[in-house]
Amino acid sequence: MDWQAITARIEAAVTPYIGTGKVADYIPALARVDPARFGMAIVQGNGEMITLGDSHEPFSIQSISKVFTLSMALRHYGEDVWNRVGREPTGSAFNSIVQLENEKGIPRNPLINAGAIVVTDMLVAASNRDAMVQELLARFHRLSGDDTIGIDEEVAESESATGSRNRALAHFMAAFGNMANPVEDALHAYFRQCAVRMSCRQLARAALFLAYDGCDPINREQLVTRENCRRINAVMMTCGHYDNSGDFAYRIGLPGKSGVGGGILCIAPGHGAIAVWSPGLNASGTSMVGAIALEELVEATGWSVFG
Ligand code: DON
Repeated sequence: MDWQAITARIEAAVTPYIGTGKVADYIPALARVDPARFGMAIVQGNGEMITLGDSHEPFSIQSISKVFTLSMALRHYGEDVWNRVGREPTGSAFNSIVQLENEKGIPRNPLINAGAIVVTDMLVAASNRDAMVQELLARFHRLSGDDTIGIDEEVAESESATGSRNRALAHFMAAFGNMANPVEDALHAYFRQCAVRMSCRQLARAALFLAYDGCDPINREQLVTRENCRRINAVMMTCGHYDNSGDFAYRIGLPGKSGVGGGILCIAPGHGAIAVWSPGLNASGTSMVGAIALEELVEATGWSVFG
């Protein structure tokens, strides 16, 4: 692979679009981020890392955390996870409540807010709200070899202060008996997992196990079974970008997960993990420039899972 040519190609493709899209403005700490930032890291199974731009800069991982909590829940509860959350795409926004009533408090999938709150509720039930977040952070520290990864307390507090919609989702599910803990305990953990700050380098490194059958190819830790790894990738492909998941699969063809902080995590099975960050979002909350960079990467490498 001629990485020099590939990174030059990506840079040329994104340059005209840098700064486009709309920065998440639902909390001040996210609205303040400079929309012209762009970073990318591609980590391969042998540990080789290719980087572009602000790949060292930590950003708010937001909904990308949902992939890691799902992997923790599948490890702990196995198939029982699917008794409380489905695995179908929604065609709706990430924070939509409309399907929950018809579907009796069982969220469509673990990557929308309602589904991720249920997954976090399961993890809180298995330990407690603070230990659950500590376990997530410990995972990040272990996998990326960097124990400075932490929570942006300002973002966590603002998430909670502005979290009426997530509270509504959680209480609605509680009314159907689909919350095991007091709603505020599950939400406390959920708001904190969304407020984790990581760089593209750290994020791609931490997700490498998803490209290698659930086993981190560098430290050899098996984080999820081979079957669950395949399933997590399937859910990312079908649900990772909410009502934009079809378009993302069409353009990029890799399992991925977006976050409103402007990050996108993508898994190229057998090749590596990619994290890209640029804060301007499209209407579904996916980074505009990030998606262009990934499109270019896939064109150049042939890494799409569709050949
Ligand atoms: O719960 C929320 O709404 C935010 N903390 C996360 C939303 C998010 O990242 C949606 N992804 N594109």
